[in-house]
Amino acid sequence: MAYPIHRPRRLRSGDTLRRMVRETTLSPDDLIYPLFVTFGKGVRNNISSMPGCFQMSVDEIVKEAHKVYKLGIPAIILFGIPEHKDAKASQAYSPKGVVQQAIRAIKNKVPELLVITDVCLCEYTDHGHCGIIKKGKVLNDPTLELLAKEALSHVKAGADIVAPSDMMDGRVAAIRTILDSNGHDEIPIISYAAKYSSAFYGPFREAAESTPSFGDRKSYQMDPANRREAIKEVALDIDEGADIVMVKPALSYMDIISDVKESFDLPVAAYNVSGEYSMVKAAAKKGWIDETKVMMEILTSFKRAGADMILTYHAKDAAKQLNSH
Ligand code: PBG
Repeated sequence: MAYPIHRPRRLRSGDTLRRMVRETTLSPDDLIYPLFVTFGKGVRNNISSMPGCFQMSVDEIVKEAHKVYKLGIPAIILFGIPEHKDAKASQAYSPKGVVQQAIRAIKNKVPELLVITDVCLCEYTDHGHCGIIKKGKVLNDPTLELLAKEALSHVKAGADIVAPSDMMDGRVAAIRTILDSNGHDEIPIISYAAKYSSAFYGPFREAAESTPSFGDRKSYQMDPANRREAIKEVALDIDEGADIVMVKPALSYMDIISDVKESFDLPVAAYNVSGEYSMVKAAAKKGWIDETKVMMEILTSFKRAGADMILTYHAKDAAKQLNSH
C-alpha cells in the first residue's frame, strides 16, 4: 500500500497535529549546564571562543547557579581553573581547591541544584595531561589513585554526582571503591565512558586552560574512527559501577549515542562540546544561520538519537526558549 492511499503529509498539516505526533520532546529537565570556576573574587572573564560563557570566581558562580536553577535546569557540572598547577595536580584534591569551594558555596545557597563535578587532572597539572607523566608517557594506575582522591574531595565538599572524564582504565572502579569505603555509596557516577580524542574540544581548552604542553590525548582518549570500541568502553564502565554513561562529543557521534542506548539500559548522557557550541555561535554571528532554531534542532537530535540528558553550553538559552512556550 502506497500513495495515493498513504500521504504522510496528512499528519503535518498544522502545528497542533504536528505536536500530537511528535516523537521527541525537549525539556529543561534534560539539560546540564557546564560552569568554569576560577580563583579570586568578583571575577567574570569572557571566554572569547565561547561567547556567553565565562570563567567565574566562587562568588559569581553562586549567582550564576541561582539563575540556572530558576530557569528549571536541574544540574550544573563544574570545571576548575586553579591558581597553581603542578606535576601531581595537588589542587585537584585539595579541600581548599576552587571546585571544592564552589561546591560548598553553591550547596549552601542553592541546595536543590544538583552539583556534578568533572573529575580529571588536566586542568590541574602543569603539563596539561589527564594523568601522571613519567618519561613522556601518561601512566594509568598511579593516576587512578589521584582521581579517586579528587572524587572523594568533591563529595566531601558536597558534590551530588561525580563525572570522571580522564579515560584512564579502571577509574570508575577506583572511584566507586573510595567513595563506598568512606560512606558515600549513595553518590552516583556519570562516566565519560565513550570519550573520543576530538578537535571539537579546542575552545574548552582555552576556557579551562588545559591544553597539553606536549603531545596529544590519543593514548588515552578514543580514536574517532572507532564505533564498536565504544560498546566495549561503556560495558567496562558499567561493570565497574557507572550509573549513567556519557558519549562525548555528541554532534559527530550520534551513531554512538544510538548504539549505546540500544545496547544498555542505563541513562545515557551526551556532551554537546565546546567546538560544537562555538560553531553555532560563530555562524549565527555572521548571520548565516538562525541561532535559536539551529540550537533547538541540534538538542532535539541528541534526544532523538537516544540521549536522556545533554550537557550543553546552550542550556540557559534553550531553557529560556522552552519556558517561553
Ligand atoms: C577534561 C575535559 C575536557 C572536556 C571535558 N572534560 C577536555 C579534554 O578532554 O581535552 C571537553 C569539554 C568541551 O570541549 O566542551 N578532560
